[in-house]
Amino acid sequence: MAEDSTALDMNNSTKQALESRALAPRFYTTDCDEIGRYDIDPVREEWDAMMAAFELDINREHFKQNYDFDPETLEADPELKAEFLDLLVSSITAEYSGCVLYQEIESKVGDPEIARLFRYMARDESRHAGFINRALKKLGVAVDLSVLKRDKEYTYFRPKFIFYATYLSEKIGYARYITIYRHLERHPERRFHPIFKWFLEWCNDEFAHGEAFALLMRANPKLLRGYNKLFIRMFLVLVYTTMYVRDHSRPKLYEAFGMDVTEFDHTVFDITTEISKQVFPMTLNTRDPKFQRGLERLLDLNIRVDGLQGVSGVGATLKRLSLQVGIGTTILRLFLLPTIPNEMPKQVAMQPAW
Ligand SMILES: [Fe+2]
Ligand SMILES: [Fe+2]
Repeated sequence: MAEDSTALDMNNSTKQALESRALAPRFYTTDCDEIGRYDIDPVREEWDAMMAAFELDINREHFKQNYDFDPETLEADPELKAEFLDLLVSSITAEYSGCVLYQEIESKVGDPEIARLFRYMARDESRHAGFINRALKKLGVAVDLSVLKRDKEYTYFRPKFIFYATYLSEKIGYARYITIYRHLERHPERRFHPIFKWFLEWCNDEFAHGEAFALLMRANPKLLRGYNKLFIRMFLVLVYTTMYVRDHSRPKLYEAFGMDVTEFDHTVFDITTEISKQVFPMTLNTRDPKFQRGLERLLDLNIRVDGLQGVSGVGATLKRLSLQVGIGTTILRLFLLPTIPNEMPKQVAMQPAW
């Protein structure tokens, strides 16, 4: 009986990871030949230092360590457990999405040096996904990664879009993990699961991955000029707003951390914005009250869309449509808010400065 229910749960978490909801992490595919034509020579010295650091692999042993955890401790708070599982499943989908994409680029890119970089990054993401899956397994709900790789819907993105989106998600990943880690360091009584103890080395991996994308973009500056600036701005808005809406759907989780979720998101925006000055030609003014009002409006519209889930009929369809138009308009308004121009760039670093 116990085995049956575990099998059912495994299917459910795999099913959840497979879902293609608007805000759920996606799997991507791209034009690897084009990435193979990117230039490295303009940043040769930094490239060699970066590759040496990846080769050194200082976090090799980190994700092999084990820990004890009694799943019963989460049973007392089913809502927190549900949100924590949702976080783990969404995180493993994102980590594994990176792994699959980097593996694909490694195998098809043509250029052996770029292939080697993506092999290192796929190695790290595979470790991260594996580590989350061990946590899920202890809770009886592991995700079947081979099913995910086979059955998940893949979205094609042009290489430059992959670079903008992945660079941002690596840096946001860093900012999120370090902010949670530092907070729980100050409030260890709030650390309700041991996985958070792993976040320091983990975030350094994500930081280094972001540096790799930053370096490749700086070596190929056409990616950062002209009308590409509009795409960068759009990706900034999309990635930031997605994170905001997703985090606000997990209130119990942040309550358990003893964090204000809105302040947490703004701290993550601040850190990411500061880092992204190394490469992006502009930053968003996320502390502008107009930006905040847009975020709140988006949140409200998304909650209303979710409320219509499973409701059928013409009325619900029209309502859904009008809410979607509202979401689109709000995102457009955020996109049109004035940005802060940035004179580039800063030196690439394998370890974060804070
Ligand atoms: Fe990762
Ligand atoms: Fe990463």
